[in-house]
Amino acid sequence: MKKLFGILLMTALVSGTAVANDEAVQSRIAPVGSTCMQGDECAAAPAPAVAAGPKSGKDVYGSFCTTCHSAGVMGAPKFGSAADWAPRASKGKETLYTHAIGGFNSMPPKGMCAACSDDEIKAAVDYMVDGSK
Ligand code: HEC
Repeated sequence: MKKLFGILLMTALVSGTAVANDEAVQSRIAPVGSTCMQGDECAAAPAPAVAAGPKSGKDVYGSFCTTCHSAGVMGAPKFGSAADWAPRASKGKETLYTHAIGGFNSMPPKGMCAACSDDEIKAAVDYMVDGSK
């Protein structure tokens, strides 16, 4: 009887260890990270906001052009100053676009917004010219 108990105890211990090992193995071979399936709670989290479409002229101005054009750094025509912008505007919009995109004296190409599209730069020029009449 004592011996049988001993065997039972041994079996329980061995199988107990086996279960523990099994769990350890499971956690070790579990995939890194988990996949988020549609309908899962994790999939309900909103996707990170991605700016839709091109930046507005105002946004481009506020992020880049304002650095020089609000205070008139290096003689940059100041935003809101009709006196500064009238002589520029008289060159024609196309010239201003070309100078804003390609650079002009101390005016850096694209106003240092390398990631801006030509259209976004043009919109920023429009914003400055229209806001400086
Ligand atoms: C590092 C400073 C700086 C930044 C940033 C800058 N500008 Fe300028 N910008 C200037 C200076 C200086 C001038 C005057 C150049 C001159 O007349 O010699 C100028 C002139 C201009 C002109 C007039 C060009 C002409 O033909 O008279 C336009 C248009 C212009 N900038 C657009 C922009 C736009 C749009 C941005 C933003 C995307 C921008 N600038 C960012 C410095 C800057």
